[in-house]
Parts: sequence; C-alpha cells; structure tokens
Amino acid sequence: MDFTDKVVIISGARIGIGRALAEALLRRGACVVVNARDAGALEKMRDRLCDSTTVRLYDRIHAVAGDVGRPEDCRRIVEETLRVFGKIDILINNAGISGKGSVAESDPVVFQAQINTNLLGSIYLTRYALSSLQASKGSVLFVSTLAAIRGLPFHSGYSASKMGLTAFAESLKVELHGQGVHVGIAYVGFTENDPEKNIINAAGQLERLPRRAGVRLTPASQTADLILRQIASRKFKVVHSPIGKLNWVLSKIAPWVVEWVFLRKRESF
Ligand SMILES: NC(=O)c1ccc[n+]([C@@H]2O[C@H](COP(=O)([O-])OP(=O)(O)OC[C@H]3O[C@@H](n4cnc5c(N)ncnc54)[C@H](OP(=O)(O)O)[C@@H]3O)[C@@H](O)[C@H]2O)c1
Repeated sequence: MDFTDKVVIISGARIGIGRALAEALLRRGACVVVNARDAGALEKMRDRLCDSTTVRLYDRIHAVAGDVGRPEDCRRIVEETLRVFGKIDILINNAGISGKGSVAESDPVVFQAQINTNLLGSIYLTRYALSSLQASKGSVLFVSTLAAIRGLPFHSGYSASKMGLTAFAESLKVELHGQGVHVGIAYVGFTENDPEKNIINAAGQLERLPRRAGVRLTPASQTADLILRQIASRKFKVVHSPIGKLNWVLSKIAPWVVEWVFLRKRESF
C-alpha cells in the first residue's frame, strides 16, 4: 500500500488505533494531520512520532487540537489541513468514546457524549471535508465497531452512536455515486487498549479501561493495517475478526441466535 504524498486527516489520533494509523501512514509516505482534544499531549505525541523515525518528519505531520463534537472545531481542522498541505485525500473518522452501564442507570450525559463524538463528530468533519474529498476523488472512512452490528446490552449509547454511522455512510455513498469518492466503514474487532484509554461510566465520569481478559485482542497496528487496506482497495463495508464475521452473518440470517447468545452472556458484557 503506497500512500506517498496523500494528505490524511485522522481524528482521535493521540493514542490507540488513531495513533497506530498515523504511524503506519507516515511510514508509507503520507502527510498526516492528527487531531485530539488534549492539545499538550497531542503535541508531545507528534514530537515522539517525529523523533522515533530516522527521517525527520516535521514537514509531514501536523497536529490540530479540537473536539470533533463541535462543528466549529471540525471546520478549523479542515481549514488548517488545507492551509498546511493544500488538499485532503483521505479522512479517517476515528475519534470515539465507549461507555458502559444499563439504560436505567445511565446519566443522560453518557448518551450525549457518545452521540456527540462518535456520530456527530464524524458527520461534522465529513461535511466540512467533503468538497475537498470530491476535488481529490478521495476516501472517507468511518471507524465503527462490532457493537454496531447488533445492539450490545449495557453499551446502548455506544451501539446506537455507531449504528448511526452505518446509516450516514450508506446515505453518503449513494449521494456521491459517480463522483469517484470512496466511502468506507470498518467494523473493528476487539483491539488492545492503549494504557491511557478512558471509557465513560454510567455516572458520566471518565475512567480507565482495564486490560480486557478472556478475549483475543488484535494489536492496534494490525487493526490500523486492515483499515488502510480497506482504503487502498476502496471497499465499502469491512468486518474485522472471525467473531465479527460470524456475528454479521448470523445477524442477517438468524438474528434470534445472536439475541440468544447475548441473553446467555448478559452478565459478561
Ligand atoms: N479499541 C477497541 O477495541 C475498538 C473496537 C472497536 C472499535 N473501536 C473504535 O476505534 C476508534 C478508536 O478506538 P481506540 O480504542 O483507539 O480509542 P482510545 O484509545 O480511547 O482513543 C480515543 C482517541 O480519540 C480522542 N478523542 C476522544 N474524544 C474526542 C473528541 N470529542 N474529539 C477529538 N478527539 C477525541 C482521544 O484523545 P483526547 O482524549 O485527547 O481527545 C484519543 O486520541 C473509536 O472510534 C472506537 O469506537 C475501538
């Protein structure tokens, strides 16, 4: 996969899958705009990325702090990218937050936070980048999850926000038909957590997600690789991991089986 001189915006790229995507794209010759809310930590991450390679990368990586849940920040991320690099070839809507808790116990801010970042954040950024992507005949990729195949118990806000991305991507794909823009959505499987990864609890507070036990976790670099392969091959929907593919097929042909499994495993979600 060659991304030489492609200009790529990655939202939520300070840690985790977003940072792995930035690393992989820089190795493949792209110019990368990394975004996250924590400006200081984002700058440090950018400096570490630049210093970790033999080639000085300062002219190929640019950091723009901002909250994708705010339309004005998304507009600024796009404007800054155009000012620095002059075009946008690829937008990867990766910023996301997951939550845990029953509907009955969850504070409304839990749903608000997840819809704002996961769904609206991707919609705003896509909206502002769209004319540039049309000009470059580029790609927009939405980072979704296996929790968007079938609503997960105790993760309702997360599932709902990510399922919304499916509808948005499907609408956009048809709207852009014939214009040469690739629209893709990746249903990402369980990926190794960054030690700094936070989730939102039922009270609406951020808490560190402990390393998940009992599930096979894909390294972030491998998840990033699958996403880049999808962009390179311009595929629409890609489901990661064997368990994800099984869930996908069963949800289409025998959804009651999935519901039965979820009911039996209810307490482990
Ligand atoms: N990890 C998994 O197992 C897994 C599985 C399926 C899907 N996914 C999806 O993959 C994506 C990345 O997941 P991850 O586990 O790598 O996440 P993560 O480690 O929790 O990192 C999230 C990143 O997004 C940034 N961010 C959060 N809210 C933001 C906002 N409103 N505006 C801008 N940036 C924001 C964070 O930085 P700041 O805090 O500085 O903003 C951070 O850089 C998410 O969309 C997630 O839903 C992950």
